[in-house]
Amino acid sequence: MTAVQKSVPKPVPRPLPMPVGEPGLPRAVRIWEVGPRDGLQNEATVVPTPVKAAFVSRLLDAGLPVVEATSFVHPRWVPQLADAEALMTDLLAELQEEAVGLPVLVPNEKGLDRALALGLRHVAVFGSATETFARRNLNRGLAEQWAMFAPVVGRARDAGVAVRGYLSMCFGDPWEGPVPVDQVVSAGLRLLELGVDELSLGDTIGVGTPGHVSALVRAFQRAGVGPERLALHFHDTYGQALANVLAGLRAGVTTFDASAGGLGGCPYAASATGNLATEDLVWMLTGLGIEHGVDLDRLVATSAWMAGHLGRPSPSAVVRALAGTGEGGDG
Ligand code: HMG
Ligand code: MG
Repeated sequence: MTAVQKSVPKPVPRPLPMPVGEPGLPRAVRIWEVGPRDGLQNEATVVPTPVKAAFVSRLLDAGLPVVEATSFVHPRWVPQLADAEALMTDLLAELQEEAVGLPVLVPNEKGLDRALALGLRHVAVFGSATETFARRNLNRGLAEQWAMFAPVVGRARDAGVAVRGYLSMCFGDPWEGPVPVDQVVSAGLRLLELGVDELSLGDTIGVGTPGHVSALVRAFQRAGVGPERLALHFHDTYGQALANVLAGLRAGVTTFDASAGGLGGCPYAASATGNLATEDLVWMLTGLGIEHGVDLDRLVATSAWMAGHLGRPSPSAVVRALAGTGEGGDG
């Protein structure tokens, strides 16, 4: 071997961001994975139950600490998740205790009954900050949605079941336009008063921008709700999701919802596109030196595998960069 050949550097296996922190950011964050629920609820293709179960298992194996598995909603409203019982039964058989703690959406007591009948211990109610979306998504006005949730949260808490509260349309609403910060704070307080453990603020149609995120988190703080009780749930319709996460981190929020491969949307808000891709979030957190516990290679392989099942490439920039075409394969 010649001296020239010896000096040729070995290629790195794949690029990685160089961790460079920023003072004042949290040391660690919790990623709340919503791909199997928010992602698959909006797919034209109905994914077979065993594929969904493998998706959830693979996401857990990739180190995601929370994987929201499905919804116990009316099957006519969300046919893509009509197999909620079958999916959770499979997951309980495979994962046992680990499956018991997987969060599932329940809009009402009927949904809660279905989750409790399987022995599940973590549920989420999902309300709206706006009247129009409450009617479109839950067939209820604002006042009726709180009345519907009250017994759900009360009974879940009495049974020692953890309850998350989602609030949609926290930045803008396709029918009502921009949503005032004060309106969002009062709706969020209603959910917290019902007794939910944490509040996830949803930018359902992805119109939020960083200054708006900071203002909303600050407004909650002024109302007595610190960032440790909040999660941020961004859809990436206008490419603002990562910038919005950074604003959230700077405001002290440590829980972020994201969807593997950037799958997602909301069947009752036509302008809602994919969620923030978990891979893109992981890449940025790694670069900021913030702990997240996720194995990016395993996650990318999982999203590429799921893209193969859905028959379309992942919209995630990181999945595309790291998995070549993103057209799938066995991962
Ligand atoms: P409704 O038609 O008003 O229901 O729908 P109802 O209470 O009048 O009952 C009618 C029938 O539905 C009855 O049956 C009930 O038993 C049955 P019947 O007596 O006629 O035979 N029923 C149910 N069946 C199964 N499971 C249930 C259930 N509840 C009633 N849970 C309802 C009201 C809330 C059920 C309906 O509007 C619904 O299912 N909505 C779900 C919409 C949804 O899942 N949207 C997506 C999730 S939200 C989201 O994606 C946003 C988020 O990601 C955050 C963000 O991005 O902003 C979380
Ligand atoms: Mg959503």
